Amino acid sequence: MEYSVKSGIPEKQRSACVVVGVFESRRLSAAAGQLDEASGGFLTQLLRRGDMEGRLGQTLMLTNVPDTLCDRVLLVGCGREREFGDQAYNKAVAAMASALQDSGAVEAVSYLTDLPVKGRDNPWRVRTAVQTTATTLYRFDQLKSRKDTPRRPLRKLVLTVPGRRDLAPGEAAAREGQAIANGMDLTRDLGNLPGNLCTPTYLAERAEQLAAEYPALSVEVLGPKEMEAHGMGALLSVARGSRQEPRLIVMRYDGGNKGDKPHALVGKGVTFDSGGISLKPAAAMDEMKYDMCGAASVFGAVRAALELELPLNLVGVIAATENLPDGNASKPGDIVTTMSGQTVEILNTDAEGRLALCDALTYTERYHEPTSVVDMATLTGACIIALGHEAHAVLGNHHPLVNELLTAGRDTGDRAWELPLWEEYQDALKSNFADMANVGGRPAGTITAACFLSRFTRKMRWAHLDIAGTAWTSGDNKGATGRPVPLLTRYLIDRC
Ligand code: BES
Ligand code: MN
Ligand code: ZN
Repeated sequence: MEYSVKSGIPEKQRSACVVVGVFESRRLSAAAGQLDEASGGFLTQLLRRGDMEGRLGQTLMLTNVPDTLCDRVLLVGCGREREFGDQAYNKAVAAMASALQDSGAVEAVSYLTDLPVKGRDNPWRVRTAVQTTATTLYRFDQLKSRKDTPRRPLRKLVLTVPGRRDLAPGEAAAREGQAIANGMDLTRDLGNLPGNLCTPTYLAERAEQLAAEYPALSVEVLGPKEMEAHGMGALLSVARGSRQEPRLIVMRYDGGNKGDKPHALVGKGVTFDSGGISLKPAAAMDEMKYDMCGAASVFGAVRAALELELPLNLVGVIAATENLPDGNASKPGDIVTTMSGQTVEILNTDAEGRLALCDALTYTERYHEPTSVVDMATLTGACIIALGHEAHAVLGNHHPLVNELLTAGRDTGDRAWELPLWEEYQDALKSNFADMANVGGRPAGTITAACFLSRFTRKMRWAHLDIAGTAWTSGDNKGATGRPVPLLTRYLIDRC
């Protein structure tokens, strides 16, 4: 898909389709009004006849609209104008994308970016339109013998800006939206791939591939021998039960000043989480192929940074391993020594994410001395109980950093919500036999998991995103969401 911006009046667009909004009840948007006037009241007539109420998400495709230069006009219902905010705008754009994809029009000019979204300017509307269109059109059919791609897919979407002065900011916004969308697509592809194909080794290969595509990226991969040499006893303990070797994947992009400390993104890459000896129940266990979505979001955000050539230094670190039961697997009660030197009693082998991450965090601190570090992980089922499937949980040891992430989330509609990381919660991790236990019991599971990580990030500005509820959807529309790539990319752009 190709996205661009332009300004100009709707009736003069020579296009396969012009898209305009209609508010409830039967109120034409500004662009729809212009088309109506040019066509001698064609749209008003149609609305009067009752063909379109303007309900949010409703669409109506028209052909042969008099005195216009386009082949089709698509009316998109936008709901009540007074309630037209982020959510309604996204719904309208998604409805447009689906209708266009089904229509046979290979290109379109959309005036939805002219609509007044409460508190949002034109660049925001352009960037969001690109992001939402791409999200709506995404399909994962690479493993189906019959693809569900339409015969004449949409190839080109032109988004309108009010005037010529708005062209440059509009173009920048479209470019940003495109980079975020491409990052999300990569993240979703990796997430949706099954565990037998998407292994730690495969993730490492994909990192090498990304580096081949973007020379600005350099990749370093550690296997079990190097992990042993670094003393990564926690990460290695997770991999013990698997025939697949673990990988620590390090992606480095230096787009900023030489010598500037990098921003770090660290991802949980458990390519399948069976729970290990603390085996999970069978129901929906297939979804534990998504337990590498934190890692996948590192890929997505790094790709977006590369595409945008962001002027900053960035390091992405991924702890990739499987968690399986086996004669050689870690057992409840086992005690391991982490790279930091701290010892951990593994009371539950299903709390493996923090074990993999703690060594990745220590490695990041020691070899990259980052200005800030953000880790992403599908870490706790408790996060879904606390926040459901809307918000990521964010916890951290540096308030400005947490706020930057919250802001980036609000701006992109990829929102996070802060949970407290108070000292009092640390007590839950007490162990009689080691420096700490790897679980803290049922209460506040997301917080005690973050408490565990906090013991490995004391010397860094650090925040943690628990994306257990947001990285994928279950049910009929099962699939990776590409979150939190929009939040991360926005966060990185704002650091430049
Ligand atoms: N990957 C899971 C968390 C998870 C579960 C995410 C379900 C999304 C949906 C993680 O490794 C895990 O198993 N966590 C345990 C921790 C517990 C043993 C303290 C959990 O949440 O049950
Ligand atoms: Mn687990
Ligand atoms: Zn897990």
